[in-house]
Amino acid sequence: MEDTQTLSDKYIMQTYNRFKISVERGEGVNLYDESGKKYLDFTAGIAVNSLGYGDEDCINAAIEQLKKYNHCSNLYYSRPQAEVAEILVKNSCFEKIFFCNSGAEAVETMIKISRKYGKTKGNNCSKIITMKNSFHGRTTGAITATGQIKYQKAFTPLLPDIEYGEFNNIESVKELADDRTCGIIVEPIQGEGGLYPAERDFLEGLRRLSSERNILLCFDEVQCGIGRTGSLFAFETYGVEPDMAAMAKGLANGLPIGACAARGKAATILSPGDHASTFGGNPVSCSCAKVVLKKLTESNILKQVQRTGEYLKSKLERLKEKYPVIKDIRGKGLMVGMELNIEAKEIMLKCIEKGLLVIGAGAKVIRFVPPLIIEEKDIDEAVNIIDIVLGES
Ligand SMILES: Cc1ncc(COP(=O)(O)O)c(C=O)c1O
Repeated sequence: MEDTQTLSDKYIMQTYNRFKISVERGEGVNLYDESGKKYLDFTAGIAVNSLGYGDEDCINAAIEQLKKYNHCSNLYYSRPQAEVAEILVKNSCFEKIFFCNSGAEAVETMIKISRKYGKTKGNNCSKIITMKNSFHGRTTGAITATGQIKYQKAFTPLLPDIEYGEFNNIESVKELADDRTCGIIVEPIQGEGGLYPAERDFLEGLRRLSSERNILLCFDEVQCGIGRTGSLFAFETYGVEPDMAAMAKGLANGLPIGACAARGKAATILSPGDHASTFGGNPVSCSCAKVVLKKLTESNILKQVQRTGEYLKSKLERLKEKYPVIKDIRGKGLMVGMELNIEAKEIMLKCIEKGLLVIGAGAKVIRFVPPLIIEEKDIDEAVNIIDIVLGES
């Protein structure tokens, strides 16, 4: 029998630079490979496995739902979907939810809603402003929204009428905003682009600009949402409410799901037939999303994320004092970046070799997005490994 890596390389398109780890199972905040080696997981499937591995409530919810029905078309009503939408709406500024399967699809939904809204403003009102260095996913619309040429250049021509402002520079966005602008899309914390939190003034400025000019303000919370920064949505910590938000990753603890939440005009602009998704709001995914959302809104997990997030940052700050190669520590909650003065790849590989899973965000930033249930002792273990790796480098 061929091993997993040989088999994969033979039959799967080579679209990923995979680490040489073949995953066997997970338990709590740890992943195990096929040889039984344990890894402390500070990646969580790239900010996805919010409750870690093996959460009993999620497992039971998924099994119970699978026994009832695994899928039904969106031609019919489905209770798990309705209940997840209710929790999201009751715990946010939003009024309605559209369910899909991924972050990119949620962003596409915001693009479509913005464009349809633009048509109510005037014929040529189709311009969408996004930010340089952003990341919004891999579909054609989402790579156009993504303000990084490396993701776009092989796939031109892109979607027309998308322009890029400077992140954290409100004047640059004001210069682009005009009567033809229907939407502005921004990540409250840029993730893939290198872990850059937005400044409060910037998001407040975008809110004012959008309201004055009748533009839909759209936040991409695919990575920073669903408890990751210590509040259900990252925008809550800024006190700035968008017209729409895209979410996905952490929402169903690893089962595929995406959602676009909207309020006001954005919540009602789509009519039957305008938009759809066969698997969108899958009942098994939604049954897990319900567990995640209930735990985030009814237990002390968000408080725990605030506490452990601060703890992680303070421990990394201490490493920064020790190792000049660390340039900056930044982020919110359990979405933390450690910027180095050198390429991060070698350091990451050494951490992985010593049993700590980390990922990059841009060439020089190591990103920490562990399960939200991580504890101080896990952080001690992770930082200890990084300490050893930096000491040996
Ligand atoms: C901010 C942001 N938006 C959108 C996406 C795309 O999500 P997906 O890979 O689920 O399509 C990502 C993925 O990393 C993301 O970080």
